[in-house]
Amino acid sequence: MRSDLTNKDKLVRRVFNSVAEKYDLMNDMMSFGAHRLWKKEMLSILQPQPTEVLLDVAGGTGDIARAFLAKGGGRAIICDINHNMLVAGMCQRGSSEFLQLICGNGENIPFRDSAVDSCSIAFGIRNMSNMKRAISEALRVMKPMGKFVCLEFLNCDSSPFSKIYDMYSYKVIPTLGKLVADDDSAYRYLIESIRSFPKSREFINLLRECGLGMVTMHELFPPVAAIYWGYKV
Ligand SMILES: C[S@@+](CC[C@H](N)C(=O)[O-])C[C@H]1O[C@@H](n2cnc3c(N)ncnc32)[C@H](O)[C@@H]1O
Repeated sequence: MRSDLTNKDKLVRRVFNSVAEKYDLMNDMMSFGAHRLWKKEMLSILQPQPTEVLLDVAGGTGDIARAFLAKGGGRAIICDINHNMLVAGMCQRGSSEFLQLICGNGENIPFRDSAVDSCSIAFGIRNMSNMKRAISEALRVMKPMGKFVCLEFLNCDSSPFSKIYDMYSYKVIPTLGKLVADDDSAYRYLIESIRSFPKSREFINLLRECGLGMVTMHELFPPVAAIYWGYKV
């Protein structure tokens, strides 16, 4: 069991080390820009406030954290395990005195309890070796009644759209990954990680088990991703 976790950690590290510089470009190409709309919606749920401190777990190149500040949030902290992703974000998107970067593990966040007002995690939770631990850690570092917002791909196999989506995922995305980021295996991993993610009902139960209250889910369009949110109770 332990060695499986270690293998996943190593794999995730290799994947994001390899694609860091091309990560943003690949996101736009793979989703035809839709991830920007999904993240806009995530921001509208977060409702940034000038006094608020947001922790963006697995924040990667930092689009959520920077959008939080641009929309009036007080301070944003990105915690990502991969140094290359943080550096790519700084080089491509720049810095801000209200933005802090931490190279750290979302399953063991280097913060005291109740240190931040809210937490976000976009397309990061499925990369964690222990999702339950990562969610519990996010809740631990949030103040009571803080908002937790998670954006993640849906593991759906029953929609009429699923055959086309499968073809696109297994054939087109790895080919794009090879052409743009010179790594098809990294993008094969990303697709497989989506297929092994819990179904939305199970994920909602996991969020509740970790102590999240008033859990809500909103399916996005196209129906390949969803936003889950709730409050630390
Ligand atoms: C698909 S990217 C998402 C990046 C960004 N949130 C976005 O929406 O574009 C997943 C990120 O999770 C990070 N990650 C994976 N495991 C992690 C962990 N245990 N702790 C913190 N970050 C992690 C990776 O380094 C990578 O930057």
